[in-house]
Amino acid sequence: MANRIAILTGGGDCAGLNAVIRAVTKKAILECGCQVIGIEDGYEGLINNRYRPLDYADVSGILTLGGTILGTSNKADPYSYASGDGFVDRSHDVVENIKNMGISCLVCIGGDGTLAIAHKLFQDGIPIVGVPKTIDNDLRGTDITFGFDSAVQVTTDGIDRIHSTAQSHHRIMIIEVMGRQAGWIALHAGLAGGGDIVLIPEIPYEIDCIVEKVMERSKKGKRFSIVVVAEGAKPKGGDVVVKKIVNDSAEPIRLGGIAFVLGEQIESRTNLETRAVVMGHLQRGGAPTSYDRILATRLGTRVVDMIEKKEFGHMIGVNGDSLVNVPLEDVAQGPRLITIDHPLIKSARSVGTCFGDYGTCFGEE
Ligand code: F6P
Repeated sequence: MANRIAILTGGGDCAGLNAVIRAVTKKAILECGCQVIGIEDGYEGLINNRYRPLDYADVSGILTLGGTILGTSNKADPYSYASGDGFVDRSHDVVENIKNMGISCLVCIGGDGTLAIAHKLFQDGIPIVGVPKTIDNDLRGTDITFGFDSAVQVTTDGIDRIHSTAQSHHRIMIIEVMGRQAGWIALHAGLAGGGDIVLIPEIPYEIDCIVEKVMERSKKGKRFSIVVVAEGAKPKGGDVVVKKIVNDSAEPIRLGGIAFVLGEQIESRTNLETRAVVMGHLQRGGAPTSYDRILATRLGTRVVDMIEKKEFGHMIGVNGDSLVNVPLEDVAQGPRLITIDHPLIKSARSVGTCFGDYGTCFGEE
């Protein structure tokens, strides 16, 4: 067995990161007599050689803790690192730093950006294994990522709270959720929270359809409507709403603001009072759900087996009830989006949920 391994958390934080760090570290120490080191702030720490030992005591009591004790960055990319006015390749520094750490494997816990970089480092000779993390749930090679369930729970709680105020004030309430180009959070939380209209990037919406749905409900005596919109949702033939361009990030576009755009349009066309709420980073913080704690522990302990077997260049993925090795190369092929024939979309349509398309919203199959 390896006698020294390193752990890194990259990309946006989410609930369950510490549970994975704990699982990897405890198993590596208890069952393999291994030393563990933690890289600080994701790839930023690898580039600038910042790391520290992780002892048993360091990971004790962190199972329920949100965020990551190691810190993270969703900007630093060793192959395209912001410097002055441009970007430079610092991957040679990273390879050198890793060699000097004397580790036999690097555990990269991250989403598609982090694991695509991990794949490149693997190709550059670094022994690496990956663990799938993201609230967005948009990673190829796995049915689910840890952090997603916790984000859905927070969002569902939010929708429940919005529901009562929507009912009381007879308003249209629009709840914007994260997810980048994927609508997984909107679909799951929309279903769990009983959203009347759920807008996801995978189904471009038509504002006329949304207005008709709201008016139809209003005519039937439903004096409020709940619209759950993914930050990456866009109108048919139109584009996403960009909140911010982060210039020193390898992936600079941050989405956001669609709820306010829609709110204006719906209010002016229906004459019904409308308010917009953005769930934002609330979806990433706080304690993981029990589902995520269990998943994180399964993934973290299993990844130590992969290291023992030298199954480098792979991520541990979820396939039904099983955990499977997935080549990082496959994971790096872009986001996993919802297919429009997804069973959850069918179920939602069956209970009258409108997706902003004329598909089956008004029983016109
Ligand atoms: O990928 C996780 C995520 O929370 C996305 O859902 C969201 O678009 C993005 O990160 C937000 O990034 P930042 O924290 O840089 O605003």
